[in-house]
Amino acid sequence: MTSHLDTVHDRHDTGSTKWNRYPADVLPLWIADMDFAVAPGIIQALQARLTHPMLGYSVAQDSLRETLVTALRELFDWEVAPEELVFLPGVEGGVNMALNGLLAPGTGVVVQTPNYRPLLNAAGHWKLPRIDLPFHADANGLYPTDLAALEAALGNAGAMILSNPHNPLGKVFDRAELQAIADACVAHDTLLISDEIHAQIVFDGRKHIPIASLNDEIAQRTITLMSATKAFNIAGMKNAFAVIRNPALRHRFNTARQGMVDSVSTLGLVATEAAFKHGKEWLAEVIAYLQANRDYLVNAVATRLPGVSMITPQATYLAWLDCTALGLEDPHAFFLKEAKVGLSPGTDFADEGAGQFVRLNFGCPRALLEEGIARMAQALETRNAPPH
Ligand SMILES: Cc1ncc(COP(=O)(O)O)c(C=O)c1O
Repeated sequence: MTSHLDTVHDRHDTGSTKWNRYPADVLPLWIADMDFAVAPGIIQALQARLTHPMLGYSVAQDSLRETLVTALRELFDWEVAPEELVFLPGVEGGVNMALNGLLAPGTGVVVQTPNYRPLLNAAGHWKLPRIDLPFHADANGLYPTDLAALEAALGNAGAMILSNPHNPLGKVFDRAELQAIADACVAHDTLLISDEIHAQIVFDGRKHIPIASLNDEIAQRTITLMSATKAFNIAGMKNAFAVIRNPALRHRFNTARQGMVDSVSTLGLVATEAAFKHGKEWLAEVIAYLQANRDYLVNAVATRLPGVSMITPQATYLAWLDCTALGLEDPHAFFLKEAKVGLSPGTDFADEGAGQFVRLNFGCPRALLEEGIARMAQALETRNAPPH
């Protein structure tokens, strides 16, 4: 069955970060944005807004706050009050505001590795020591949080940054794991910065659980960061929001803008409201499409890319491919040069131990994913072919 999501849109010459990074003959499967047309309801709302000819500085209107309060309740059974929302141009800025505004000099910051590079780098921007907490695959090939190591790490820290669902592992933290992390943060008086930007894209009927929704104790010490940008493919609209229940934390967080983190974009606010109000059907189709792409990819990696392995992503449109068995010096460089496929290098996600990994973005029409797999399979075949 064909879908409107099968349509391949030419994104060259649109200023797309994804499609500008590599030469035109490279298929880009890297940065976390999708090659799908945005939901019609979002486009219509933007067009309607542009019938008013003023585009001055903007603030969130009550209707946006109410839309988000309803969405958080419907999506995650999470009760949030309108005044708990703080609007931001991006999640990354929000993480840095929290570290800058809420921590004393020298406070340690725990981050699980591998992780999204800006989350790894944030502590360093504020000269705060980063404490890495590595994920290790268990016998089922899953990546549980090492709770004993977490306890030890939190003993030396004042804050933890969580990525849930996790980029690049595509891991959904389940309730028990979240509860254990929350309990440890409460016990150690830790500030929790929970990056939940990928919350809406979860597979196999799973449900995302905001860690701050577990109980009031953890909510009082958590800055949750979310946006419409990943799920609705509007990252260029530069719009995100924090949910902060504790009024004192919220005040200190807000004052940490310090002239660096600007107010939000007029059109971004419109797009965010339209996404949550009018994008449900579109998002359901996208999630089903992504899940099918994920299944295709898991099968293709197992059957057509010998030497490459992966765990099945539970969320996100990102796959963490282990290329260790290929015995290559630099798998990212190999696939770029020999397959003309632009992946994210594993070294983007950890300072140590990730050089044999690449991250592949499967948020694209199936034809592009098939093309990427065909190119990678061909490159491996050519490499393995006996010399004539
Ligand atoms: C886990 C995670 N956090 C934050 C971001 C970036 O968010 P923003 O563009 O809102 O700063 C990304 C983008 O891929 C991400 O994967």
